[in-house]
Amino acid sequence: MNFLYIFVSSSITLLLAILTLHPSIPFSSFKWNSSFSHPLADFIITNALIYTSNDSLPFAHSMAVSNGRVLSIGNHSFVQEFAGYRTQVLDLGGKVVVPGFIDSHVHFIYGGLQRVSRNTTIRLLSDQEFTGSNPGKSSLLTRMKQVKLRGVNKKEEFIRVIKDAAQKTKQGSWILGGGWNNDLWGGDQPAASWIDYVTPNNPVWLSRMDGHMGLANSVALMLAGITNLTENPRGGTILKNANGEPTGLLVDSAMKLVTSLIPEDSVDDRREAMLRASNLALTRGVTTVVDFGRYFPGVSANLSWEDFSGVALSSSQSDYFQMSGYEVIPEEQNQNTNIWLSNKLYMVHVLDFMDGFDVINKMGHALSEWIYVGGVKGFADGSLGSNSALFYEPYVDDPDNYGLQVTEPEALLNMTLESDLYGLQVAIHAIGDKANDLILDIYGSVASTNGMGDRRFRIEHAQHLANGTPGRFGKQRVVASMQPDQLLDDADTASKKLGKDRAEKESYLFRSLLDNNALLAFGSDWPVVDINPLSAIKTAMRRRPPTWETAWIPSECISLDDAIKAYTISAARANFLDNDLGSLSPGKLADFVILSTDSWKDFAEEASASIQATYVSGVRAYP
Ligand SMILES: *[C@@H]1O[C@H](CO)[C@@H](O)[C@H](O)[C@H]1NC(C)=O
Ligand SMILES: *[C@@H]1O[C@H](CO)[C@@H](O)[C@H](O)[C@H]1NC(C)=O
Ligand SMILES: *[C@@H]1O[C@H](CO)[C@@H](O)[C@H](O)[C@H]1NC(C)=O
Ligand SMILES: *[C@@H]1O[C@H](CO)[C@@H](O)[C@H](O)[C@H]1NC(C)=O
Ligand SMILES: *[C@@H]1O[C@H](CO)[C@@H](O)[C@H](O)[C@H]1NC(C)=O
Ligand SMILES: *[C@@H]1O[C@H](CO)[C@@H](O)[C@H](O)[C@H]1NC(C)=O
Ligand SMILES: *[C@@H]1O[C@H](CO)[C@@H](O)[C@H](O)[C@H]1NC(C)=O
Repeated sequence: MNFLYIFVSSSITLLLAILTLHPSIPFSSFKWNSSFSHPLADFIITNALIYTSNDSLPFAHSMAVSNGRVLSIGNHSFVQEFAGYRTQVLDLGGKVVVPGFIDSHVHFIYGGLQRVSRNTTIRLLSDQEFTGSNPGKSSLLTRMKQVKLRGVNKKEEFIRVIKDAAQKTKQGSWILGGGWNNDLWGGDQPAASWIDYVTPNNPVWLSRMDGHMGLANSVALMLAGITNLTENPRGGTILKNANGEPTGLLVDSAMKLVTSLIPEDSVDDRREAMLRASNLALTRGVTTVVDFGRYFPGVSANLSWEDFSGVALSSSQSDYFQMSGYEVIPEEQNQNTNIWLSNKLYMVHVLDFMDGFDVINKMGHALSEWIYVGGVKGFADGSLGSNSALFYEPYVDDPDNYGLQVTEPEALLNMTLESDLYGLQVAIHAIGDKANDLILDIYGSVASTNGMGDRRFRIEHAQHLANGTPGRFGKQRVVASMQPDQLLDDADTASKKLGKDRAEKESYLFRSLLDNNALLAFGSDWPVVDINPLSAIKTAMRRRPPTWETAWIPSECISLDDAIKAYTISAARANFLDNDLGSLSPGKLADFVILSTDSWKDFAEEASASIQATYVSGVRAYP
């Protein structure tokens, strides 16, 4: 594969460079260190407690790094063999080190856009050129503010937040925001009528926390032409009241009726958002993200494709992101912060799959040092919180509703068959028990049609699984790509919507999946929940929502090792990146995180630690 080949050749080049550029090093110095037979390290970390995510050597004290890769790992005397006179030594004082976290499911640019909520000045420090900006000049970026509704737990508060936003927004401009969760105020669905009188002159669009439902005010409904006569689009619902009038809530593919009207952020704004997202991820120890773009059923794949090809790819190829060449100064603090985009981006989401075939044909999977194309995403159903996840039994709070099948099974089958033939990995969103079985059926049928192969089909979320389904994941070798921190929100919701018994039998079955030899890959689905592997690892171990005294389904708790593996080596496998990433072993990229703790025992018991430093390919990218 290109990716590895490129590295191998460049490492040979570097070794030659060391030997040829320093002819003054006395030959005997190599001899003393008996290192003539192997390359020398750029740096060595010692006095560390390194968890490798590799069962053949789970722990080590020392690691040598050369040319961005792990050269050697083991005990102090073994690794010291690789020290040369230019080798730097980092004594970590006993701190725990783990492989860089791989977040297997994020919406990177979308998440970054949501974080931009203040004026920011960007100043270019280097003379590097990049499209769309003016090297050496300051530019003031202002963009639409996103109203934050996460955590709002009263109707009055919801209205007040929107009223405040309306007072600060020009007439006619969109008010955008999201993160609301109606379960926090007892479950009543919000309606356009809640906010119409505070937003008479602005269209409003507020997405629910899970991104599968949103609230439009009447101005937005009018702009979109949604009336009591508008029929549900395929894969979506326009909620209506008893009089047949739209309430303002749009579910799954119906959201596009309004979202297609919202003005798009500029390419510069989106690049900026990506930079911001990367910087945040690095502070959390995330060194690789798997991006799922900005796609939901019913919308054109065009936007995601443009983000991918126009924002991410062009950025990675123009060096825009690779160095701390830019300084971002938040105005309030006037504080200099270097920003790195050193995360690797693994774009699974090449949604318009004809585009995907094209790229793979021309360029292969590794599009640059930083960007790797995975494959194609599809949707089977919606979400639990929006009552659109597809179940065998109806919702307890909505007894005629079994959820939504948002894409025709034949279309998913077709897409999977074709993508698989072209070597594009397939990842399909499935939350309800029935949706998961449906996708496993499709995957099984494609495997028997297309023949033996290493395909690593993925199911995104795999949140509620019927009896016997974890075994199918193991047997069919389908990846369960799950987001532990979402259970913190779902623990209460699931009992309400599925009934306590059903919820406890089938929700977030981490332990059952592992016991059935399924490949479990963790992520966040950021911005649905925060991008924060240490928090998700704790949640997978404890399963305790903030207000709970006990674990939710204690039998499904997993150990620290298993949780870390799901965020490192298993995530790498789930993305076909395990040749280069996921464990600290000789030859792999030196992506690692230094934690605040110096006791594995405390870490395993208390599950709490913080990130002290993040290294990407042997380079410190945070702080
Ligand atoms: C674990 O380490 C061994 C020895 O270096 C290596 O052969 C193997 O590929 C590694 N496995 C993983 C998953 O990194
Ligand atoms: C260090 O590691 C090497 C290679 O794994 C091994 O041969 C040696 O015995 C170890 N030394 C100590 C002191 O553990
Ligand atoms: C050789 O390695 C030892 C540690 O094993 C180090 O102290 C010494 O400085 C090295 N010598 C040279 C010339 O690099
Ligand atoms: C940006 O900052 C300027 C000056 O501090 C202020 O006048 C302006 O309203 C701000 N714009 C936004 C969108 O916050
Ligand atoms: C739709 O609304 C219009 C005006 O609000 C009303 O006249 C009409 O009867 C409604 N139609 C239905 C099918 O409810
Ligand atoms: C995507 O949109 C852009 C402009 O909005 C347009 O130029 C382009 O042709 C579209 N591409 C596809 C595949 O629809
Ligand atoms: C499946 O693919 C075939 C051939 O590529 C096409 O003719 C057919 O319409 C597709 N079916 C669906 C449901 O997309």
